[in-house]
Amino acid sequence: MTPDTQNPLQSLDVWEEDVLTRYPEPFTKAKDDYRNYDEPGRDTVREFYRLNHTYQTYDFVLAKEQEYLKFDKKEMPVWQAFDFLNTLVDDSDPDTDLDQWQHLLQTSEAIRADGHPDWFVLVGLMHDMGKVLCLFGEPQWAVVGDTFPVGCAHSDSIVYPEYFDANPDAKDERYNTKYGVYEPNCGLRNVHMSWGHDEYVYQMMKDSLPEEGLYMLRYHSFYAQHREHAYDHLMDEHDHKMFEWVKKFNPYDLYSKVPTPPNWKELRPYYEELVAKYLPGTLKF
Ligand SMILES: [Fe+2]
Ligand SMILES: [Fe+2]
Repeated sequence: MTPDTQNPLQSLDVWEEDVLTRYPEPFTKAKDDYRNYDEPGRDTVREFYRLNHTYQTYDFVLAKEQEYLKFDKKEMPVWQAFDFLNTLVDDSDPDTDLDQWQHLLQTSEAIRADGHPDWFVLVGLMHDMGKVLCLFGEPQWAVVGDTFPVGCAHSDSIVYPEYFDANPDAKDERYNTKYGVYEPNCGLRNVHMSWGHDEYVYQMMKDSLPEEGLYMLRYHSFYAQHREHAYDHLMDEHDHKMFEWVKKFNPYDLYSKVPTPPNWKELRPYYEELVAKYLPGTLKF
């Protein structure tokens, strides 16, 4: 495959816009008529999901975990890491799309405005840092997209479930039953999720933030659970408690876009202090 066929989206934001069409309001299930929004302009989104659902196999995920969770690729001070993430510019329309940094800052500012604890604000600021995977050469379908458990049956509540027919795991009896390689209610910490920016940033931050914040990072794209409740059978009591926080985070991710960018010059001292309070001097990638 050439790079272009691997990356059908004009920008990563197109996936997020699509999620917004599916979930125009907080805390609700997908709009029934969501698929009626299918239009030629959205074909790239369908193609993106076709690739994601076809190639995110159990073996693929384990291989990516091996490759990336050694964190031996790069080491950067946090503020340099934001600059690095922001080199992720694609051919999106500069008038309508925010750069990665603006999305992070607007998310964290919306959380701060609601008076949440400072670590929650930091989650907002860091939650998409894992998108640097694109800069390490990963295709869009291995960086963004709704995440889902691998190693067990794919739920029909995952967007475009029909594309899982082409996933080899769907025909593999080790992986295609309700529980697959897992035990009932074994807890999500024992479950491998499709590979992408959520798991990567969670692993990056795992020694630096309270557990509630880590759940937000790790499962923020797991719409099949936090909106559709499709994987209760793998979760334990503790997961359910922690998912209240995942749900709390989601509206800030999806609905925090504001027309006027926050004044970074004024905000900078606050964020420098916040980052210094929780994070090590450098981040490992
Ligand atoms: Fe994200
Ligand atoms: Fe985000």
